[in-house]
Amino acid sequence: MRSTRLCCWLCALASLLAICWLTHGPISTVSAADPAKPAAGKPVSFLNDVAPIFKEHCFACHDAKKRNGKYEMTTYEKIMAGGAGGEQIVAHNADESELYDLLVTQEERRMPPRDKGDAIPKEKAEIVKRWIQEGAKLDAGADPKADLVKELRIRWQPPTPPVAYKYPSIVNALAFAPDGKSLVVGGHHELTVWSAGDGKLLRRIHTRAERAYAMAFLPDGKLAVAGGRPGQEGDVRIYDINAAAKGEIGGVPFLDGVNDPKVSVAKLIEVDDSILCLAISPDGKKLAAGGCDRNIRVWDLSAGYSAAKLEQAIENHADWVLGVIFTQDGKQLLSSSRDKTAKVWDLTAKESVLTFPQHQNTVFDVAVSTDGKTGYSVGADKQMRAWVTSGDGKQVRATGGHGDEVYKLQYFAKGEWMVTCSADKTVRLWDAKKGNQLKELTGMTDFVYGLTISSDGTLVAAGAYDGEVKIWSVPDGKLVKAFNASPGFVPAAAKK
Ligand code: HEC
Repeated sequence: MRSTRLCCWLCALASLLAICWLTHGPISTVSAADPAKPAAGKPVSFLNDVAPIFKEHCFACHDAKKRNGKYEMTTYEKIMAGGAGGEQIVAHNADESELYDLLVTQEERRMPPRDKGDAIPKEKAEIVKRWIQEGAKLDAGADPKADLVKELRIRWQPPTPPVAYKYPSIVNALAFAPDGKSLVVGGHHELTVWSAGDGKLLRRIHTRAERAYAMAFLPDGKLAVAGGRPGQEGDVRIYDINAAAKGEIGGVPFLDGVNDPKVSVAKLIEVDDSILCLAISPDGKKLAAGGCDRNIRVWDLSAGYSAAKLEQAIENHADWVLGVIFTQDGKQLLSSSRDKTAKVWDLTAKESVLTFPQHQNTVFDVAVSTDGKTGYSVGADKQMRAWVTSGDGKQVRATGGHGDEVYKLQYFAKGEWMVTCSADKTVRLWDAKKGNQLKELTGMTDFVYGLTISSDGTLVAAGAYDGEVKIWSVPDGKLVKAFNASPGFVPAAAKK
C-alpha cells in the first residue's frame, strides 16, 4: 500500500493523473482529458475534437523541440504542412492521408511507434478520419499559426464541483483565515471555507485549478493560491473569498472564482504545468512561487495585484520546486526541490548564495529562522535538517522522529517553534532553537500533506490524503475539531 500511495503523492503532482484516478479515484467527476465526442451529424471541430487527440498522443514527440521525422504538430499550419516525407494529410481523402494510415495500419511503421506505446483508441482514429473526410478544416475564425497547447488551454473549462463528493478530495493545502475563525481548504476545482469552531461548511469558491497546492493570506485579507491541473496547466491567483456569492450549491454560498473578477481578483501567471508552492514576504509586498517548470518567480505587489510586476524568474533548481520562503528582512529566498537540494538565493544581488545537499533525496519544504541565519528543510529522507544560511551551508543538526517522509514544515516566527507533517500520519511541534520535539499531534488516518498555523499561533491544522482535516490547540496539543473537507462526502462506514 505504501508504494502505491507514494506513487500517488507524485502523481498527485505530476502528469500521471489518469493512472491516479484509475487506481484511487479521488473524485467523482469524469476525466476532463477525455476529448468531447463530436455530436453525430455535427462536423468535427479541429480545435475541440482533433487537437486534444494529437496533444495527448502525438505532441510528446512532435513538439517544437522534438520534431521527430521533422514533423512538428504544434499549430494547424504545421500539421497541414507535413514533415520529412512531405504533406501527411490529403483533405477529403483519409485513405490517401499518410497521417491517418499511420494511426490504423497493421504494418510495422505506426504512430505512436509500436515500441513506444499502444495504437490510439479506434474511436479517436475515427474522429481524425471524419475530420479529414470533411476537409481537414480549421475552425472558422481560428488562427492557423496559433499554438495549439495554448489554444486548448483557453478553450478548456473547469467542471463545476458536485454538491456532494463521492470520493474524498486530497488536501494538499489549507490556511487559517487571519482571524483564526475559519479555515480555507483546497478541494477539487474549488476552495472550501469551513468554520474552525464547529467544522461547518461556510462557502465554496469554484477555481480553474483542479488542485490548490499552496495558499497564503495577504495583509489585506485576500488569498493567494498556487495550483494547477497536473501536466496541463498551473496558475497563481489572488482571490477575494469574502466577495459576494452569486449563487449557492447544496444550500452553501458558491462563488465564481473562475470568471468573476470580484472573486478571482488577479491572475499572476498561467503556465503549462502545476505551480506547487508559494510564499509572501513578511512585509506583504512580494510573492514568490515555484513549480514543475523548475522556475521560482518573484512578483512585486506594491502597485496592486493587477499591476503585479514580475521581478525575477529564477531557474536555479534542476527539478520541480516544492518549497519557497522569504527571510524576515525579505532579502533572501530559500527553496527546496525534487532535485534533492535546498538553496538560498540573494534577491538583491540576484544570485545563488548556497546549495544544501545533505538530504540526498527529495526536499519537500523549507523554513527559515527569524534572524535568517538558520535554514530548516524536510524531505523524503524522513529528516528535518537545520543548516547555516551563509558560508558553505554547514549542517547544524539532523532530526529524525517522523517515521516516514516529511512533507511540510512551517516556522512560527513569533514563538520560534516549528510544525511538520508526514506520511507517518502525524503532525509534530518542534523547538526551533534546540531542535527537540515539543508535541506529537496524532489521530490522522492517512498521509498528512497540508499544514497551517493560525496567525496568533494558538492553533495548528492539518489535512490528509483521505480529505480529513484536524485542528489542534497548540498550548496543550488537544484536538479541537475534526472533519472531512470534501463537501457532502459520506465515508463508506457511515453509510450503513
Ligand atoms: C514516441 C514518439 C512518437 C510519438 C508519440 C508519435 N510519433 Fe510520429 N514519429 C516519430 C518518429 C521517431 C518519426 C520519424 C520516423 C518515421 O517517420 O517513422 C515520426 C514520424 C511521423 C510522421 C511522418 C512525418 C514525415 O513527414 O515523414 C507522421 C505523420 C507522424 N509521425 C504522426 C504522428 C501522429 C499523428 C502521432 C500521434 C497519434 C505521432 N506521430 C506520435 C515518433 C513519434
